Amino acid sequence: MALLEVKNLKVYYFTRKGTAKAVDGVNFSIDKNETLGLIGESGCGKTTTALSLMRFVTPPGRIVKGKIVFDGRDIISMSNEEIRLLRGKEISIVFQAAQNALNPVMTIEKQISEGILEHESITEDEALERAKNQLNLVGIGDERSKSYPHELSGGMKQRVMIAMATVCNPKLLILDEPVTGLDVIVQRQILSLINDLRAKLHLTIVIIAHDLSVIAETCDKIAVMYAGKIVEQASAVSLYKNPMHPYSQALIKAYPSIKGEKKKLKSIPGAPPRLVNPPPGCKFHPRCSYAADICRKKEPIIREKEGHLVACHLN
Ligand SMILES: Nc1ncnc2c1ncn2[C@@H]1O[C@H](COP(=O)(O)OP(=O)(O)OP(=O)(O)O)[C@@H](O)[C@H]1O
Ligand SMILES: [Mg+2]
Repeated sequence: MALLEVKNLKVYYFTRKGTAKAVDGVNFSIDKNETLGLIGESGCGKTTTALSLMRFVTPPGRIVKGKIVFDGRDIISMSNEEIRLLRGKEISIVFQAAQNALNPVMTIEKQISEGILEHESITEDEALERAKNQLNLVGIGDERSKSYPHELSGGMKQRVMIAMATVCNPKLLILDEPVTGLDVIVQRQILSLINDLRAKLHLTIVIIAHDLSVIAETCDKIAVMYAGKIVEQASAVSLYKNPMHPYSQALIKAYPSIKGEKKKLKSIPGAPPRLVNPPPGCKFHPRCSYAADICRKKEPIIREKEGHLVACHLN
């Protein structure tokens, strides 16, 4: 059974310049213990999708349609109190660029212990003990538990964020660009930590990235987002080796392979569309070298082909 099912999710930002359809009819599901990667360029709706899963979207944004069923319960119709209890306990998120949001005047063990005390009725000492264990678990020795954030490297701060997000054993962990901005070696270390924790804590994970090559090995399946929609979804291996949507193909060509096979990189011409007044038809057509007449007129629907779900007229 799926742990999380997202059906026809629509999340819009109502701005003075018009309505930005940041998430525009997104469907996916994740089974227990599965890892889903959500990839795409900047502004395509990845973070908005992730925030919706915990009802963290705030004005001018609003979930306007769809269903989010988590562990048999409908997130969208939950009371605020139910959502409060769920956040950090059943579903946790490491926000994009969250390392910078650590409290600069509080030790890291204290910050982790506060998260535990929000959800569990244990003493402060017990919570601090748990925090130390958790720091060990994420590869920061407990001798550093009294460190302040400024004493830690970027990679270590990200470990602290992951420690915080996993300390209450969530069923679902959302990681929004957990390795962006870290150097390649530290990226690898953090991804290997995520793999370890996944096995040890039986986590189900949504991981967001721009670059498929970085997360392909960590994920079971990948959804590629473009302009608020999932344009292709498949197993990680199949998507990486045999991308079908021209956007997925372009995205993969645009990043270097982490395994060192040197190929000429090809940036994707143009920029993602503005979401307030997107082009008609397939939203990728202005940047697609295969675009035909139908692509300019009719929006493709996502269909199954050779084990992939793909939204392209030419596939
Ligand atoms: N607070 C906001 N107010 C208005 N519009 C917003 C707001 N946040 C996001 N948007 C709109 O939603 C779109 C999707 O944003 P989102 O942050 O979900 O993208 P993303 O894929 O996570 O991008 P990035 O890779 O840069 O993090 C943006 O292009 C923008 O048009
Ligand atoms: Mg984002």
